[in-house]
Amino acid sequence: MIEQRGGAVERDAEWGNDLDAAKHWLERDKIEYHALLDADEEQWLLYPVDTPERGAIAETIARYFHRETTYDFRPYSVGDEEENGTRVFLIRSHRLRMCLLPIIGGAVGMRSVSGEWVLMWVWLHPWERGTGPDGGTLSRKTFDALEAEFGKFHVQAPLSKTMRAVASQRGYRSVTVEPA
Ligand SMILES: CC(C)(COP(=O)(O)OP(=O)(O)OC[C@H]1O[C@@H](n2cnc3c(N)ncnc32)[C@H](O)[C@@H]1OP(=O)(O)O)[C@@H](O)C(=O)NCCC(=O)NCCS
Repeated sequence: MIEQRGGAVERDAEWGNDLDAAKHWLERDKIEYHALLDADEEQWLLYPVDTPERGAIAETIARYFHRETTYDFRPYSVGDEEENGTRVFLIRSHRLRMCLLPIIGGAVGMRSVSGEWVLMWVWLHPWERGTGPDGGTLSRKTFDALEAEFGKFHVQAPLSKTMRAVASQRGYRSVTVEPA
């Protein structure tokens, strides 16, 4: 009985430490949608990152991208959009369109390299994947919108499995560009 109590006390101490570690890892891997408070007009579907608030959201989403993929760098930090030839957009959620305030469910970064546009990174909230408006998917709408803005572009290697499918369907070439 005494041993059991002793064991319980020891275990509580260990669990106390472990709880701190668990909180750290849970915080690190938490993903969230983001309300865009500075949008002066409601629009569908891409919001250029051109304010500090949008930059902060893009940076958080870039962290999600980094955690999920095999890329060994975080593809965006606040202010990167001020580099010449870099354009970053927040992607509006399709699932959460019940209020006027845009809810952001993804982001994408483009870079102009020797006069050609390269999609450097893209990330959609998992609940936005494989689903979307008008029978299409949000990713398809996003790539349509990017092509309308940039014409046919290339995509930064390495490609994820889904991105390989997208690239082969749309005829995007995979290229390797040094991160800025
Ligand atoms: C890449 C990403 C934006 C694509 O969005 P998505 O909603 O998952 O893509 P979709 O469901 O529209 O799929 C696109 C196409 O790829 C196909 N596809 C999806 N997953 C696939 C898989 N694992 N294997 C083969 N084909 C696949 C789909 O069938 C679809 O083709 P269709 O339009 O003919 O049906 C999203 O998956 C994502 O954010 N992934 C995490 C980050 C990432 O990998 N970014 C790219 C780095 S290169």
